[in-house]
Formats: sequence, structure tokens, C-alpha cells
Amino acid sequence: MAKKTIQDISVSGKKVLVRVDFNVPINDEGQVSDDKRIVAALPTIQYLLNQNAKVILCSHLGRPKGKPDPKFSLAPVGARLSELLPDVKIWFAEDTIGESAKSAIADMKDGEIVLLENVRFHKEETDNDPDFAKQLASLADVYVSDAFGTVHRAHASTAGVASYLPAVAGFLIGKELGVMGEALENPKRPFVAILGGAKVSDKIGVIKNLLSKCDSLIIGGGMAYTFFKAQGYEIGQSLLDADSIELAKELLDEAKARNVQLLLPVDTVVAKEFKADAEHKTVPSDRIPADWQGLDIGSESIELFREVILKAKTVIWNGPMGVFEFPAFALGTQGVAKACAECEGTTIIGGGDSASAVKKLGFADRMTHISTGGGASLEFLEGKTLPGVAVLNDK
Ligand code: 3PG
Repeated sequence: MAKKTIQDISVSGKKVLVRVDFNVPINDEGQVSDDKRIVAALPTIQYLLNQNAKVILCSHLGRPKGKPDPKFSLAPVGARLSELLPDVKIWFAEDTIGESAKSAIADMKDGEIVLLENVRFHKEETDNDPDFAKQLASLADVYVSDAFGTVHRAHASTAGVASYLPAVAGFLIGKELGVMGEALENPKRPFVAILGGAKVSDKIGVIKNLLSKCDSLIIGGGMAYTFFKAQGYEIGQSLLDADSIELAKELLDEAKARNVQLLLPVDTVVAKEFKADAEHKTVPSDRIPADWQGLDIGSESIELFREVILKAKTVIWNGPMGVFEFPAFALGTQGVAKACAECEGTTIIGGGDSASAVKKLGFADRMTHISTGGGASLEFLEGKTLPGVAVLNDK
């Protein structure tokens, strides 16, 4: 059922608690080194400010152990937000539900922002403690969820709080669910899914769900070696998810039964060691030498995948094709990123590593959508219910 959004309610003059995902990287100088998630929340923040709401921003950063830890303070995020919104007064509260938060909220005017300190400084947050959720809710009149990257967590600020306030979705949630939902439910065909990453068991839910929807499924990255093993190939020292070999066989059979074209790399870049400057060569995938390990897909695979991607009308990509942190083994991921950039259809990049790769390679503005959620987009692609969305009010 469709969920209410900020445009369905009146927010003018109200205190609006907005759960955002400002879990961003902080560099050694204590500055935000990638502000993508902050920028992605701006449309909602700006809308609320234009409506003369009092905007109370709540987020986690990292995984502090349920108590204050300066390393995980949101202060650097506040500094970046002030640069992005130079004309807006932004109060930084040194706690989440304590005196600093309460007095800033009491003093703030319409059209101003209070940024609360890291909500995970309280262990009650991840416990989804009802009392803590109630105290958070008591800071505001309305709750807006815009933390797409965290909607797969049933925490106090992402789920519990919605029991005590009118709860609606912000623009980022709407955009993420809209683009990915459309691709899953009503894809323009051919629909090509590309999955990489290390473990079959981590991606099993996504593979199963996408097999029932896509026309072609491309599998690369560390996961591919388990599929090779399932077909009886020698994989040398390559990564193996031994517990998933049977599962890989079942998935190969399921693809056949569903008439989905399942493409695995036909050639593999193998290396002597797991090292950036390791000796390496390209071999057919069924001839990986016993003492070598696969670290990337080969050039024939890139060409094969590229042809399929270029013909697609919808592409969803999650997970790198190789160890792209090492330049010598980044060509597969680069090739797939380039093909997605050149594809004229809808291209959706799941968050996490593939999103970083696309950004690093300079292709970000040539994709239709790059998700701000790694774990969240994976769970959405698996077809799972996202707790932070389920709690929002129905239209
Ligand atoms: C993320 O970066 O994936 C989200 O912010 C969620 O963070 P978490 O995995 O620590 O819950």
C-alpha cells in the first residue's frame, strides 16, 4: 500500500523530526569526505524549511557501542550541512534527547534546523527500546523518514518512533522506492541484473528474487567461483563459498527452468597472490591453474557482458566484478560501469561498492539512479519488507 509523504500533511510551524542517513565517511582531518548522503537529503530538508517547519535532524554515524564516543560525533556533518545551507541557522545539539537537544528545540525558530548528536550513542536506539522511541517522539509533532540507507533496520529512530507520531516518507525514500520498485514490478525489457560480490549466501535472496523477474542475470566477482565449482571447474586458490555449492547448482537449474539467460565470466584474470602488484594473466574460466586465484573477469567476459548490457532497457547492478581496489584487477568493474553508462535504458546502481566504483570512475552522472543504501537496497531487491517503510502511515 502506498505510504503518506510530506506532501500529504501540513508541516507549517510544526516541529518535524526527520530521520536521515548521515552515516558518511569522516577523514583524518575530521571532515566529511563524501557528502553524497547529505546532499541526497537536501530536497526534503529544503521543502520543510520552505514550509516554515522546525526541522530536527536525527541520524546515526558508524557503530559506536551504545555510548558517546567523539570519534562518531555528527559535528563534522553539521559543519558540512552549514556549508551546503549557508543561509539557514543550524543548531548542533550535543546530545540526542537530553538538555542540549531540548533547549535548542525550545529556542529554534520556524525555518531553522537542529541537528541532534548521534542517536547510536544510546544503546536503546538499536534495541528499538519503546521508552527511548517515546522520548525521541516527544521532541516533535511529526516524524519524517528519509533515511533510505537505514530503513532495513528496526531501530527506535527508524521504526519505534512511528508508533507515537504521525509518520510519513520524505522525498529520498520516495525516489529510491519509486525507481527500484518500478524496475522490479514493471521493468522495461530486456531487464538485465548484474550481481557481484564475494559470497553466494549473502546474495541468495537477491538472486532468487531477480531470477523470477529478469531476462538475463550476469554473475561476476568472487561469487562466480562458487558457480564455477558447481559446474565442476578447477578454481585453484580462488574464493569459494563451500557451503553454497549445492545452492549454486540449484540456481543454475532454476535459471534454465525459468528461461533466464544466466551469464558467468568466460575468462578470468588470475593472480599468484592477493596483492595489488601480483603476477597475473587471463585464462579461460574452466582452466584456472591450481596454484592461482581469480581476481577479476577477463576481457572476453567484459565484451560479452557489455553486449548484453547495451541492449538492455533496464539494468540493476549490485557488487563489483573483481578486486577493483587494486588497479590491475579493476578492469572488469570498469568495463561493466562503462557499459552501464553507455546503456540508453534505465540504469540503477545498488549502493555500497558498485556505487563507489561508479563514482570513482566518473560515471555517476550517467546512471539513472545510484542508491544511497547498500544493505537497504539489497534487502529491497530481495523483496523483503523494510521495517522503516512498513511503519509509515498508509495513504
Ligand atoms: C549503511 O551505511 O549501510 C547504513 O547507514 C546502515 O548502517 P548500519 O549497517 O551500521 O546499520
